[in-house]
Amino acid sequence: MSKLIGAAVIGQSGGPSSVINASAYGAIKTALECEEITNVYGMCNGIVGLLNDNLIDMGKEDPDELALMKYTPSSALGSCRYKLADPDVDETDYIKILEMFKKYNIRYFFYNGGNDSMDTCNKISKFMLRNGYEVRCMGIPKTIDNDLAGTDHCPGFASAAKFIATSVMEVYRDSTVYDTGMITIIECMGRHAGWLTAAAALANACGQGADLIYLPEIDFDMDKFTAKVKEIYAAKKKCLVVVSEGIHDKDGTFIAEYANKNAAKDAFGHTQLGGLAAYLANYIKEQTGAKVRGIELSLLQRCAAHCASQTDIDESFASGKAAVENAVAGVTDKMVGFECTRENGKYTCNTKLFDLTIVANTEKKVPLEWINDTGDGLNQGFIDYCLPLIQGETQLTKVNGLPRFVNLKKVKAVAPEA
Ligand code: F6P
Repeated sequence: MSKLIGAAVIGQSGGPSSVINASAYGAIKTALECEEITNVYGMCNGIVGLLNDNLIDMGKEDPDELALMKYTPSSALGSCRYKLADPDVDETDYIKILEMFKKYNIRYFFYNGGNDSMDTCNKISKFMLRNGYEVRCMGIPKTIDNDLAGTDHCPGFASAAKFIATSVMEVYRDSTVYDTGMITIIECMGRHAGWLTAAAALANACGQGADLIYLPEIDFDMDKFTAKVKEIYAAKKKCLVVVSEGIHDKDGTFIAEYANKNAAKDAFGHTQLGGLAAYLANYIKEQTGAKVRGIELSLLQRCAAHCASQTDIDESFASGKAAVENAVAGVTDKMVGFECTRENGKYTCNTKLFDLTIVANTEKKVPLEWINDTGDGLNQGFIDYCLPLIQGETQLTKVNGLPRFVNLKKVKAVAPEA
């Protein structure tokens, strides 16, 4: 494979995570050190920044400051939810992207995100291949939802899982203090896949978890749910429930939509969820007369850098690094993922490449064999899968007791003389 000399551009897209910048930093640092790569640019707000010629020069950042990205949550370059059209229908955006590639002599394209972002990366990769422009396109995975196909798990999931399990344990203690009873309902993110909600089961494994856990993998039945809550409350005077924002009835309607029938949709047609915990809390209060609290973890679960898993941070960094190393070695049209083993309590994790065509837009669900027969809890299979991922405490720097997050200068990129 011949050496490909030129600039690299990296963008972040979709919902952020507490470690998405660790991946981006892995790619940026490696690219800055690489002799084949002449300049490293960051897209402001993902592909929208590239389309609008809004790039920043990562080489102008102070290296020590840049290193703080590794422990800073939430898309330091800015994010977007922008869907590229089918190129067979409308090539406008692709032609603009090609113009930008030529203007900045971009030969390496890295896109850091989840399913929809891999769709963007895949479409650009295929368009450039078809049009004979040599650029190596690599997806760098990110999603707290943990639903990208192929890879064992996704950067960002473990830290959110650790936060959720920790929060459930803490809430468990708080929600059981009074002599009077209480029902508590916690809502986690995850539209179609229940990985995050399943993480509540880690708290159960410590004996301080939820009575009921509901994932979108199983149709949700309001009557059965109410009967279960009543039964547990009658027996224990408390009931702790964890639900996924994406639980839906047998017809596929999100329960969150019962409360908000006109919920907004994003560019990919995804319904804006949320509000489920409050809806269920009101409903259960009416049904039981008990004191009920609904807690929506919302953004807290995906930006909780203070509770991040160091394993997740290190693996995220490794995925960004591997994307650049592979691209420079000649690889293109792939996403970096992980291949792991968990044998006799020993966990290993190595990066592995997956075809963009396969990962784009395919969602990986929680295996049904890890969900209990009554559809309201997880078994040991999930615990064994998840536990190694949340190990290690973040090395986040603190100043005056508070986190020291990165402050990028964001110097606007200037295209080289033609
Ligand atoms: O992209 C992952 C995710 O965090 C989902 O779990 C959640 O449904 C969605 O993003 C929320 O997106 P937004 O930030 O656009 O409201």
